[in-house]
Amino acid sequence: MSIMRPLNHLRLGVNVDHVATVRNARGGPHPDPVRAALLAAEAGADGITAHLREDRRHISDADIERLMAELKVPLNLEMAATTEMLEIALRHRPHAVCLVPEKRQERTTEGGLDVAAGHNTIAPYVRRLNDAGIRVSAFIEAELRQVDAARSLGTPVVELHTGAYCEALPGPARERQLARLQIAAAHAATIGLECHAGHGLGYETVGQIAAIPTLAELNIGHFLVGEAIYSGFATAIRRMRTVMDEARVAARVSL
Ligand code: PXP
Repeated sequence: MSIMRPLNHLRLGVNVDHVATVRNARGGPHPDPVRAALLAAEAGADGITAHLREDRRHISDADIERLMAELKVPLNLEMAATTEMLEIALRHRPHAVCLVPEKRQERTTEGGLDVAAGHNTIAPYVRRLNDAGIRVSAFIEAELRQVDAARSLGTPVVELHTGAYCEALPGPARERQLARLQIAAAHAATIGLECHAGHGLGYETVGQIAAIPTLAELNIGHFLVGEAIYSGFATAIRRMRTVMDEARVAARVSL
């Protein structure tokens, strides 16, 4: 069934990594991130995001296999630019790949991928993924030089890291982070890149980000999985969808 979306509908990608984190705490099959992904799609997620980490701390190879087989909405595979991950992506051919930096000791993806400094290392991965028809994005800091570097690498999409914005105290510090994101998102659109954003977003922080008119997609995971404990996953996703839509209407993005 195809659902008509408004022209500048802001897509919501639901990240199911931390359903797998809870599952892996006990080593059994429950809770199942694939079941959560199917539920998320039913609740209005436009796509599902999953990060296959080198250390497999949450999502596993079998999860990716099942997500590819069972999902009816697009899968966005987050991965490091490594030979192992490239082979996996080329084998499964998900709708999209988001290239992220990865450090074994980090708790989460702490910063953006430095595509400016890493151009020569990352370029062959982007080329192979582009050639395979996979939509490639680079998860970057909201800096103009990083947006420009992604463009010169040939990624059609950038995803801006919203972690610093979410962590900043409400007030001038957060406004400064918001301005960085607004400027970077506007610049991405000017040079022909589709722009996404994500990391750390919750009900309280998503509104100002959703109001950035040139954004096409937000990817949200940890907060939704946490909220699922209180309200259920589907309710949390629907509420996030509503907060995003209301912010966009208030900012007259969809008028
Ligand atoms: N986007 C990217 C590229 C990420 O790496 C992550 C975290 O895995 C997210 C979005 C979602 O972040 P969170 O789980 O904090 O909502």
